[in-house]
Amino acid sequence: MAFSLFRVGRFLRSIFSPAAVFVGFCCLLTFIFILYQPNAGPGAKQRVGWQSWEVIYDNVGGSATDASVNTGGGAPVVGTPSQSEDVDWWNVTTSTPQTMDSASLPLDEWDPMLPHATGLSEIVITKCFIDPWFAEVLAGDFCAPSTTKEDDAYNGKWVRIPRNLNVQSGMMMSLNIYYRRTRRHDIPLVTELRIMRDSESPSPFSPAWHRVEQPVSPSGSPLYLWYKTEKTLLQMTPAERQNDLITEIDILFGDDKPWYGFERVDRPVLEAKPIIRRESVWVTYRKGVKVPPQAPPLHFSHDGRFKIMQVADLHFSVSAGACRDTPLAPCSNSDNLTSTLLARMLDMERPDLVVFSGDQLNGQGTAWDSRSVLAKFARVVTDRQIPWAAVFGNHDDEDGASREHQIKYMQGLPYSLVQEGPKDIHGVGNYVLKVKSADASMTHLLTLYFLDSGAYSKGALSWFGFFVPTEYDWIHQDQTDWFLQESSAIDPIERPFIPDGAKDFGHIWGRQDGSQMAPPRRLAKPNALMFFHIPLQESYAAADIDPITSQELNVGENDLEGSGAAKQQEGFFHKGILQAMESDHVAAGNAHEIKVVTNGHCHVTENCKRVKGVWLCFGGGGSYSGYGRVVFDRRFRVYDISDYGETIRTYKRTEHDEIVDEMILAGRGAPAPYEEI
Ligand SMILES: *[C@@H]1O[C@H](CO)[C@@H](O)[C@H](O)[C@H]1NC(C)=O
Ligand SMILES: *[C@@H]1O[C@H](CO)[C@@H](O)[C@H](O)[C@H]1NC(C)=O
Repeated sequence: MAFSLFRVGRFLRSIFSPAAVFVGFCCLLTFIFILYQPNAGPGAKQRVGWQSWEVIYDNVGGSATDASVNTGGGAPVVGTPSQSEDVDWWNVTTSTPQTMDSASLPLDEWDPMLPHATGLSEIVITKCFIDPWFAEVLAGDFCAPSTTKEDDAYNGKWVRIPRNLNVQSGMMMSLNIYYRRTRRHDIPLVTELRIMRDSESPSPFSPAWHRVEQPVSPSGSPLYLWYKTEKTLLQMTPAERQNDLITEIDILFGDDKPWYGFERVDRPVLEAKPIIRRESVWVTYRKGVKVPPQAPPLHFSHDGRFKIMQVADLHFSVSAGACRDTPLAPCSNSDNLTSTLLARMLDMERPDLVVFSGDQLNGQGTAWDSRSVLAKFARVVTDRQIPWAAVFGNHDDEDGASREHQIKYMQGLPYSLVQEGPKDIHGVGNYVLKVKSADASMTHLLTLYFLDSGAYSKGALSWFGFFVPTEYDWIHQDQTDWFLQESSAIDPIERPFIPDGAKDFGHIWGRQDGSQMAPPRRLAKPNALMFFHIPLQESYAAADIDPITSQELNVGENDLEGSGAAKQQEGFFHKGILQAMESDHVAAGNAHEIKVVTNGHCHVTENCKRVKGVWLCFGGGGSYSGYGRVVFDRRFRVYDISDYGETIRTYKRTEHDEIVDEMILAGRGAPAPYEEI
C-alpha cells in the first residue's frame, strides 16, 4: 500500500510540481473525509409539509402515482420491469408501512387526514352563542377556552374540531370540542375516551381520568366526556405510541361505520330520533397513524383481461337512507341494503376496478355531513381491496363539503385512485388513468378518462330562501381543450398487443376453424373509455344503423324518462370526442380513440347507443336510495375488456342476478365500423 502510494507520488512528481501535488492531494483528502457524505442527499432529508399529505401517502406502500397519467410520460415510479422473474411488476407490497414523520405537521389546525403521530394533552368543550366559524372571522376564536401563553407553549394551543355537536338543533348555539396537541415528550397524553352519565365514572378509576366540565350531549340528560392521561410520550413504548396514543378526534353523524382508521367511543352523545329526522352523534378517535392501503397500479391480467364495474347514483345520506320506488319489504335502511346488494355484485363479478359515476351523495338536505357519508359509500369496495375511481354528479356537493374537500377526503380512503386534476379548468376531478399490460413491458393498453360534468348552471332562490337548481351544467370548452391535450400526449402502441415472451398469439385473432389470420399490426393509441355523470345531448340523438342488419345500434331502456342532458352545451361531442383519433394517420383505420362514453344521472335509462361510431351508455341506477321504478330492477353495468384491450364487452347485472343486454362494443364481434353517409 505504502509502496504503491510512493510510486503514484513519484509518478505525479514527474509530471507536476511538488506544490501542485501537495495541493491536489489535500483536496482529495478533504473531499473523501469531509465533503463526501454517503447519504441520500438533501432531498431525502426534506420534511414533507402539511400541504403535501397526499405526497406522504404516495410514498408509503408503493404508489398509486403510476396509475395516474398526468406524469407526462415520466418514468414509472414502481418496480422497474422484471427485477425478478417470478414477481409481477405491479406487485409492490411493501413489508412494513414506514412510520410517518409528523414533525412538520401543524399542531394548531384540525385536519383528520393528516398522519399525525403526536398526542393530545387536554380536552375541553365549550358552548358558544354564535357560530364559531363566524366568531373566528370577527375576532379570533371567540368560542375557544381561555388560556395563557405559558399553557399554549407547554401543552399546545387550543384546536377546535370544526364539527358542531349541536348542528342538528337548528339553533345558533354551538357545542365544540377543543383539544391541545403537543410534541413535548414530558406531558401525559390522552389514551382513552369515555362517554358517561352524570352519576357514572370510569372504572377502574384512577387520578389519570379527567371529566370535561361541559356536557358533551347537545340535548337530553347530560353525558360527559372523560379522557385518560397517564403516560408521557417518553414513558410509552413504541407499541403503546402506535396502539394506545390517541392522535385525532372526529365526530360522526349517523350510525354507520366511522372513517377509515377511526373508532367510535362506546356510546353516542345524541341518539337518533327517526320521527324528527335526527341522526345520532358519535365522538370518534384514531389511535396512532393509520395509513390507508394504496391500490396497486392498474393492470391487465396475464391473459389480457380487465373488468370494470360502474356504480351509478348511490344517493347515500348521513342517515340510514330512505327506500325509494322498490317493492322490497321491509325496507328501512336503503343505504345499507344497497351496500349489501353491491357487495353481492362485487363478489360475483370480481372487477379489477370500480367506477362511481357521480351522485354518490344524495344532497337534497340529507347528505349535510359529507365526511360521514363518504366514510361509508365505498366501504364494500375497499373491504374487498378493489381499486376505485369516482367522478362527481350534480348532487354530491349540494350540501356539506365542497368538491375540493370531498376529493381530498376520497383520496384518503383505501384503494382510491381519485385525482383532483388541473385547478384552472371547469370542474374538480378531471383526470386520466392508464391500464398497463401484465408483462414486464408495462405497455399502456387502455385509457380511462374521467370528467366532471358539473352540477347546475342556473338556479333561483325559492320563497324560503333555498337555492332551487333549474338547469344542469355541461362540459365546458376548457375541459374539451384539456381532454384533447391529454389525448394527444398518449403514445401509440403496436396493436393488437402481443405480450413479451409470447411467440404466437395469432390464435386469439383467428376463428375457431383457423380460417382467419391475425390482422396486420398497426401503430395506434390504445382504446379508451370515458366516464362522467350528466349525459351529453348526443345520447338522445339518432343511433347509427348497423349496415348488416339495418337495425339501430341502440340496446337497453331509454324511454322511461326524458332527456337528462343539459339544455346548453359547448360541443364536447363534436369538438372533443370525435376529434380524438386512434392515429394521426388516416390510413391506419382512423377510428375514434374513445370507444365508449358512460354516464349516470338517469336512473331508469340504461341503454348503450352508438352515435357516429362512439358508444354512449348509461349505468342504470343501482341504489334503493335513489329514484327508480318499482318494476325496474336495480342494476350495475360491467365492462369486460379482453384481448389486451382490443375487445370491449358490456352487460348489466340486476338485483335478481340476471345478466341483461350483453353486447360487444368494440373488437371481435362488434358491429361494423361507422361510415359517414
Ligand atoms: C406478490 O408476490 C408474492 C411473492 O412472489 C406472491 O406471494 C403474491 O401472491 C403476489 N401478490 C399478487 C397480488 O400477485
Ligand atoms: C347492514 O347493517 C347490518 C346490521 O346493522 C350490518 O351488520 C351490516 O354490516 C350492514 N351492511 C353493510 C354492507 O354495511
